[in-house]
Amino acid sequence: MAQIFRRSTNTLAKLSIVGGALLAGGLLSLVMVIARSPWVNDVGVAKEQVVPFSHKHHVSGLGIDCRYCHVSVEQTAFAGIPSVKTCMTCHSQIWTEAPILEPIRESWRTDKPIEWLRIHDLPDFVYFNHSIHVKKGVGCVSCHGQVDQMPLMWKEHSLDMQWCLECHRQPEQFIRPREQVFRMDWQPPSDQLALGESLIKEYHIDKSKMTNCSICHR
Ligand code: HEC
Ligand code: HEC
Ligand code: HEC
Ligand code: HEC
Ligand code: HEC
Repeated sequence: MAQIFRRSTNTLAKLSIVGGALLAGGLLSLVMVIARSPWVNDVGVAKEQVVPFSHKHHVSGLGIDCRYCHVSVEQTAFAGIPSVKTCMTCHSQIWTEAPILEPIRESWRTDKPIEWLRIHDLPDFVYFNHSIHVKKGVGCVSCHGQVDQMPLMWKEHSLDMQWCLECHRQPEQFIRPREQVFRMDWQPPSDQLALGESLIKEYHIDKSKMTNCSICHR
């Protein structure tokens, strides 16, 4: 019986298997690159909100403290998002006609809360708690970046597990005196490691537990 395929077809078949495997491998790594890129995890991407609230304007311009609006950040797991009542303490007097603030006034009249898009949102299987970080001297800036320079809010860091662990493995590189937690302009001193080590003692930080799976996955 005549050979249907010539010898060389065999080589071709082998080559295309190898090629296919390489292509699949290439695609997989491409997918992984994309998964860690800003298009997917939104790092550095400012989000439009119903009202273009500016931290830059209110924090750095007007000097309002984070706690004026994020009232529960020192006591609870959640920092909290202010209700329009907080906005209206000022905006019932200033910029009362501004169209840009109409959604705030409408929410105030109708009692329907503003739906702010969430910028930071961990998956449900991760436990996070603001108050403990505040108490142990982790600055807002360390996780959220220079919020006082953001006209619209964006995510400064990926918030993925590796990122959390970078600090949980070596907190001495990042922690600061408690009273500096809300400061956006605090700079680590040249002997940060020495400062960090001494704060670890003072604040009773237990480094040996900080990488246990069960503290973040409970
Ligand atoms: C005048 C009120 C006000 C002050 C002061 C304020 N914020 Fe906010 N913050 C808001 C509002 C309103 C939002 C929701 C809209 C948005 O994301 O911009 C918000 C959102 C945020 C978010 C994103 C929340 C999310 O969806 O993940 C972070 C982080 C944040 N604020 C941090 C800070 C820090 C840090 C400070 C102090 C340096 C601060 N804020 C001061 C009102 C305020
Ligand atoms: C302590 C007073 C105060 C509070 C509280 C406050 N604002 Fe303002 N807001 C101002 C002032 C002052 C201006 C700017 C006026 C100017 O520069 O001409 C302003 C301006 C604005 C503007 C116009 C755009 C801009 O940033 O210049 C928006 C939008 C706005 N505020 C939204 C909000 C929202 C939403 C809240 C509640 C989460 C809020 N503000 C809470 C004082 C306040
Ligand atoms: C150790 C990192 C870290 C520090 C420090 C930190 N945050 Fe957050 N913040 C997060 C994470 C993670 C989320 C998302 C939480 C979630 O999805 O459950 C978040 C969410 C928020 C939100 C949205 C509402 C909420 O509670 O989920 C606000 C507002 C906020 N942070 C403000 C602040 C302020 C103000 C400070 C400084 C006192 C601060 N954060 C310090 C990591 C941090
Ligand atoms: C810049 C440093 C830093 C970053 C980033 C950070 N943490 Fe922490 N975290 C700390 C310190 C310091 C403590 C205190 C540990 C102690 O007291 O022993 C802590 C404690 C905790 C605790 C323990 C709370 C408790 O009840 O004991 C949890 C949960 C936690 N972090 C979750 C997270 C998660 C999730 C992330 C990432 C989204 C994160 N942390 C990012 C510094 C950090
Ligand atoms: C400091 C907090 C922290 C600790 C400690 C921690 N994780 Fe995570 N883990 C996270 C966060 C945050 C995410 C979510 C990442 C994301 O959004 O993609 C995560 C996600 C995961 C996932 C989902 C897959 C992935 O990579 O996104 C697995 C599985 C996981 N963790 C296992 C573990 C195990 C096992 C340990 C102990 C060796 C551990 N984690 C310790 C914070 C932590």
